[in-house]
Amino acid sequence: MTRLAVVPGDGIGPEVIAQALETVTALRIGIEFDVLDHINAGTFLRTGVALSEEDFTRIAGCDAVLLGAVGDPRVITPAYARGVLLSLRSRLDLYANVRPARLLHDDLSPLRDRANRGIDCVIVRENTEGLYGGSLHRMSGAEVAIDIEVSTARGVRRIVEHAFSLARRGMCMVDKSNAVPSGGALWQRIWRETAADHPNVATYHLFADVAAMRLVADPTEFDVIVTNNSFDDILSDLAAQIAGGLGTAASANVNPDTGFCLCEPVHGSAPDITGTGTANPVGAILSAALLLEHLGYGSEAKAVRSAVDRAVAAGHRTPDLGGSLTTQQAGSAVRAEL
Ligand code: NAI
Ligand code: MG
Repeated sequence: MTRLAVVPGDGIGPEVIAQALETVTALRIGIEFDVLDHINAGTFLRTGVALSEEDFTRIAGCDAVLLGAVGDPRVITPAYARGVLLSLRSRLDLYANVRPARLLHDDLSPLRDRANRGIDCVIVRENTEGLYGGSLHRMSGAEVAIDIEVSTARGVRRIVEHAFSLARRGMCMVDKSNAVPSGGALWQRIWRETAADHPNVATYHLFADVAAMRLVADPTEFDVIVTNNSFDDILSDLAAQIAGGLGTAASANVNPDTGFCLCEPVHGSAPDITGTGTANPVGAILSAALLLEHLGYGSEAKAVRSAVDRAVAAGHRTPDLGGSLTTQQAGSAVRAEL
């Protein structure tokens, strides 16, 4: 029996995760849920503990994790979000962050040029190193802040290799090696070496600023993009918006070597709409589809994705997509298409 750890989290997290779980349940494939709904900002404020050892062991003992969002306006310290999400990512060594961006329906694209707006790409993010690696050095008194961007040969090679395993049409490596020479040279060398092992995949390189421009000019150009932690953070939000909006974006944090994965919608806890019943459940439902795929339920994942497509095409949408359905109604509309 497949056991799924579920961390609904804060804000709209529990609202959208409820729809994702109902959708997985509707597939009747017998996945068992272990819901850890006490991992949230309220618990952190009361106890000062973001993720207890007991909870970590419980999560690591499952086959995969579905997470809503963590973050709360009452918690100012980054210790909470880091303590939950970043510590799961690093302790489980979930080094590949895979973010598909696919336009669900033509009228959701913000791009004016109708011919070249059908984005369908996967952005692969190095999830454990780079500028967000956590090594922060401050020189007190001098008003100098230094954040260090770390790239290791092992880290770059494993993420580039994983990206190649996902490539269908082409592979684009994004960096800023013209301005960040040390890490840039390492990414460039490993990129060329790995590309040589994949002669059947069309490979190319873009600087991060040019990649942002080209994503808007013609997103259909892209298949798989691989890049570091910080550039992906920015490019994947851009791609998510081109694909229809933050509320629909899904992501998987994967360790391809162990097969363990944590899937989550790309959006946060959205305190501005929490409790209004208007949160879009599509990002969470598509995150569950990613999870099903990783757990070996490929045809079920595909069925969920096409059910989402049909529901959205039929106009069953929450307000962020121009509709008037509630979170619950939008989730039910997807299940009705299953
Ligand atoms: P956010 O993604 O929560 O919200 C940004 C905007 O998008 C808001 O206007 C929100 O209403 C809207 N939005 C987000 N998801 C939506 C959905 N499913 N349906 C409809 N509208 C949606 O980002 P924000 O406001 O910067 O962060 C809020 C909190 O979430 C913070 O505490 C932040 O740290 C946390 N956060 C957590 C993440 C995670 O757990 N992976 C990721 C991003 C933010
Ligand atoms: Mg982000």
